[in-house]
Amino acid sequence: MAVGVFDSGLGGLTVLDAVSRRLPEVPFVYFGDNKHAPYGVRDADNVYDLTTHAVEKLWDEGCDLVILACNTASAAALRRMQESWIPEDKRVLGVFVPLIEALTERQWGDNSPPREVAVKHVALFATPATVSSRAFQRELAFRAIGVDVEAQPCGGLVDAIEDGDMILAEALVRSHVEALKRRMPHPEAAILGCTHYPLMQEIFQDALGADVKVYSQANLVAESLADYLQRRPEMLGAGQASGFLTTGDIQSVSNKATQFLRRKIEFRAAEPAASI
Ligand code: DGL
Repeated sequence: MAVGVFDSGLGGLTVLDAVSRRLPEVPFVYFGDNKHAPYGVRDADNVYDLTTHAVEKLWDEGCDLVILACNTASAAALRRMQESWIPEDKRVLGVFVPLIEALTERQWGDNSPPREVAVKHVALFATPATVSSRAFQRELAFRAIGVDVEAQPCGGLVDAIEDGDMILAEALVRSHVEALKRRMPHPEAAILGCTHYPLMQEIFQDALGADVKVYSQANLVAESLADYLQRRPEMLGAGQASGFLTTGDIQSVSNKATQFLRRKIEFRAAEPAASI
């Protein structure tokens, strides 16, 4: 039994950390497509090709269920994958829906019509590709009415985090928050709509102010996965071992991951998608 966790790079480690704490008996296989990160500046077809390649590699590792711990892939590719690409015996789940269910105070799978919710002004921070997909607004509209969403594309932030340049990352967070606040001076809630951003959560909170509730995905996704596996235990695949795969430089990715998670992480090589 193993479950796959996919991200364009290192950001999905925030989700991996939360799911492995919540489900310590489940082996997880992580795939970071570091060679092609960041995805946030790529077009939807390109994100689809890269994501499907990575998910196939996780299926080869015995993971019948794969979590796209990447908002950009969830926003730009998941719907298309679910409509026409995923075989009957496999599942791919994204990271958007658990977050939106939390924001709109819904239980998993509550498909009742959209209704008014307590929060009215929501700030969304995400990659340029996620913002331009409008996937967040689309999923929100299925569940809530009367919510004003102001989205801020946080150009450069994923690169700074992947490079380990936390001084630049902090400056970028502060300037993106300022830019958003010029358009929405008093958000009640803020969504960190990229798995890299929880690594900067304290800075987001500080820049936004203590009265803004900051939602980040890792724990919400972990709860939602635990609930899913309780209902669908057959989706635990045949894989037996945890592991870390990267299309990037093994040594440097392992070092950064060790730094992020504050425990020793050793990646092995994964074949990158051809000709992209
Ligand atoms: N961490 C990913 C996300 O959640 C992707 C960031 C990127 O590769 O641009 O959106």
